[in-house]
Amino acid sequence: MKEITVKSNIRPYKVYMDNDLNKLYLALSENKIKNTDKFIIITDSKVYSIYKKNIKSFMRKFHYDIFVMDEGEENKSYKTIDRIYKFLIENNCDRNTVLFALGGGIVGDITGYVAATYMRGIRYVSIPTTLLSQVDSSVGGKVAYNLNNVKNVIGTFYDPTFVFISVNFLKTLEEKEFINGLCEVIKYGVIKKQEILKYITDNLKGILELENDKLLHIVKECIKIKSEVVESDYNDLGYRNILNFGHTVGHGIEIDSNHKVSHGIAVALGMLVAIKISEDKLNLNESFYEELETLYKKINIPTTYKVDNRKGFLYSINHDKKMENNKIKFTLLEDINKCLTKIEVDEEEILKAIDKSIGRNF
Ligand code: GLY
Repeated sequence: MKEITVKSNIRPYKVYMDNDLNKLYLALSENKIKNTDKFIIITDSKVYSIYKKNIKSFMRKFHYDIFVMDEGEENKSYKTIDRIYKFLIENNCDRNTVLFALGGGIVGDITGYVAATYMRGIRYVSIPTTLLSQVDSSVGGKVAYNLNNVKNVIGTFYDPTFVFISVNFLKTLEEKEFINGLCEVIKYGVIKKQEILKYITDNLKGILELENDKLLHIVKECIKIKSEVVESDYNDLGYRNILNFGHTVGHGIEIDSNHKVSHGIAVALGMLVAIKISEDKLNLNESFYEELETLYKKINIPTTYKVDNRKGFLYSINHDKKMENNKIKFTLLEDINKCLTKIEVDEEEILKAIDKSIGRNF
């Protein structure tokens, strides 16, 4: 079983990578989680419908209950969290209860937040089933929910006991969900390791055909970067901001499109805008925009977006957590793999960059 240890602020934890789900039993025992503990699986309706039988078979050795939440960003809310708290109380869950987050980033965030707060903190195991959650949200301890159309505005840092990743889960993902995750993989290539972009370009067919070795390679490379960044700046006070590259505009696009544009695609578009701002403010070489746009086109990632409601879009950006002292702060690029964080950018500069990049055809 491949593993990477994340040296978090509180205690180190492992990310196991294996396609044999039986290895999860080993991971549980290595982490001193006993069969006699009580387990609650938190998943969403889509994952549950696909993996119902596997869950039953895998969990035959345990005492467990399942909470199935509705899928979709609108359910990343306190309402869902409140329902889970009540479910845990009704099922006599105590401090020895272990939660399993089986699903994508929304399930992971909701489960992590509940684990952080129920009885002042219980254990949870993260089993991310989407490419996006495998390469990003399952590692790093950020757990949060949305309120008043502001993404992840209420949250905390709370690490899982361990993370277990099987790239086999990616075989049941809808193609658009896979591409959503691939956009975050591209982000790692842009901010930190250019070789990832070359690997995607050279192995695109195998990646899109979901060949195990190719998937494992990209997931492993991204987790190595994510854990290195998180180890250096767990509380997201400076360096960790590099992971937010493309996210400021990306979050605005998610809200502007009423979540019709997925997180990954929104970040991909946000990266193009951030690159355009980087050209203006930091003299980033203009050829990089074209290179990235060419890669997007090969993968069918959109390269254009029309912001319908500029006022609402700017409102979302102004209420993003990346604001500081009422100033919009961006992560920008001086050069490929050379990020500068907390660069102040005003509304006019953002709109101008949109008009010169993703909005230029409208
Ligand atoms: N997804 C960004 C972070 O974990 O900091």
